[in-house]
Amino acid sequence: MINTIFKFLIVCALTHSFSCLTLDEIDQSDIQQIVEARGFICEPHNIVTSDGYILGNYRIVNPFAPKYFDKPLKPVLIQSGFLGSAVDFIINSPYGQLDENILANFTDLDSIDFDLVGRDLGFILANLGYDVWLTNPRGNYYSSNHTTLDPEADKKKFWSFSLDEMALIDLPAMIDYVLNNTGQSSLGYIGFSRASLVMFALLSEKPEYSDKISPYISLAPPVYLTNVNSPIKALASTKFVANFIRDHPGSCFNRAVTQVAGVCNNILIKPICDIIKLNLVSIDRETANATRVDIYLSHLPAGASCWDFIHFAQRMINPEFTRIDLGPDANMKRYGSKTPPKYNLKNIVNQNIAIFHSTGDTTANPADVKRLIDELEVPLIERVTIEDEKFSHLDFLFDNNIGHLVNKPIAKILAKYR
Ligand SMILES: *[C@@H]1O[C@H](CO)[C@@H](O)[C@H](O)[C@H]1NC(C)=O
Ligand SMILES: *[C@@H]1O[C@H](CO)[C@@H](O)[C@H](O)[C@H]1NC(C)=O
Ligand SMILES: *[C@@H]1O[C@H](CO)[C@@H](O)[C@H](O)[C@H]1NC(C)=O
Ligand SMILES: *[C@@H]1O[C@H](CO)[C@@H](O)[C@H](O)[C@H]1NC(C)=O
Repeated sequence: MINTIFKFLIVCALTHSFSCLTLDEIDQSDIQQIVEARGFICEPHNIVTSDGYILGNYRIVNPFAPKYFDKPLKPVLIQSGFLGSAVDFIINSPYGQLDENILANFTDLDSIDFDLVGRDLGFILANLGYDVWLTNPRGNYYSSNHTTLDPEADKKKFWSFSLDEMALIDLPAMIDYVLNNTGQSSLGYIGFSRASLVMFALLSEKPEYSDKISPYISLAPPVYLTNVNSPIKALASTKFVANFIRDHPGSCFNRAVTQVAGVCNNILIKPICDIIKLNLVSIDRETANATRVDIYLSHLPAGASCWDFIHFAQRMINPEFTRIDLGPDANMKRYGSKTPPKYNLKNIVNQNIAIFHSTGDTTANPADVKRLIDELEVPLIERVTIEDEKFSHLDFLFDNNIGHLVNKPIAKILAKYR
């Protein structure tokens, strides 16, 4: 028996092919394998930022597209949130295979069964003929390398960043790279959770990026967090702990936590993993596919900077959306003021913003989302409120119903911007 398993592993390793794996097993591997297993072409693109971070991004190429379009496809960047990675948009269902019929019917979205083939945002948009770029900001599993710094040996230097750098350095680098690469003047952007914070921050600080983004679709934006009830809030209030984390930059919640060589199969560790699973993937919701939890857990958490974690915690107490607070002295050095500067949402001039949120989301909760919308001086092109107390934050990625609740409305908005 053991011998058979051993042989099986050896064969897989030698052939270096994934043909010996089931789709569920492939869905626990990396972005490139998952994309290719659905029949698409996957193009990895390393984007190097001005401060040397190497960001691993992946383009999903639909080989049928040239048959249907004689102009370049509309580029759409997709990005996930804190502790996530771009894989979050392609692992929700075992479906989403390359399908020319979807492309043939791209103008008639109602003819497409989003509940079956539309549950993975990356795949349905690629099938509909968009030029999909799965993006990873610094610090997650796909973007933890640097041209000169070593994430371990130069830990303090490497990990001294929070979402501020993702907003003001990574995002512009990705946008300029994709526009340059595709020869387009604008692109669509879809950001879940932190990925929408970074876009709001960028548009506040650099309004010149406004013309390059149309539309900007924000999923569950936790710009404000003062109405959140989370144990993290207590941690942020405990100055000693918060300051300790702040003063020791490093990597928090590395993917290895739950992934190390089937550590969750260990009979002693399994109960702990089960608790993490329950919390991580909100499977209190009947419709989430419990059989896919192992797949989600093989990717989450995808790693983050401890500074980013502390920045989140600070915003649960600080009523303003500011840059990270490093304490009076370090703030003075970094910002020239004792307190961190605020992102001024009133600077946003982009008139192509849509916001999706849920009444059941306790992170991007209705009160805090309302405050965000009230503060924006630009009108929204659309506000989609999912009225369902059981539709939680992570359900925007992992619920069985996102085909019609989230991804189809996204496709309808994008269709106006081709
Ligand atoms: C889509 O297009 C194909 C080919 O033109 C057609 O056969 C099919 O019925 C259409 N509808 C769907 C839902 O695929
Ligand atoms: C990280 O980047 C450096 C510099 O480009 C490269 O030499 C090295 O192979 C990369 N490491 C990994 C693990 O990709
Ligand atoms: C744009 O692309 C060209 C050629 O592909 C390259 O030489 C140039 O460095 C790029 N510029 C930026 C800003 O990426
Ligand atoms: C749930 O996931 C499993 C494994 O990927 C899959 O076989 C099954 O079809 C999914 N169920 C639904 C309702 O999508």
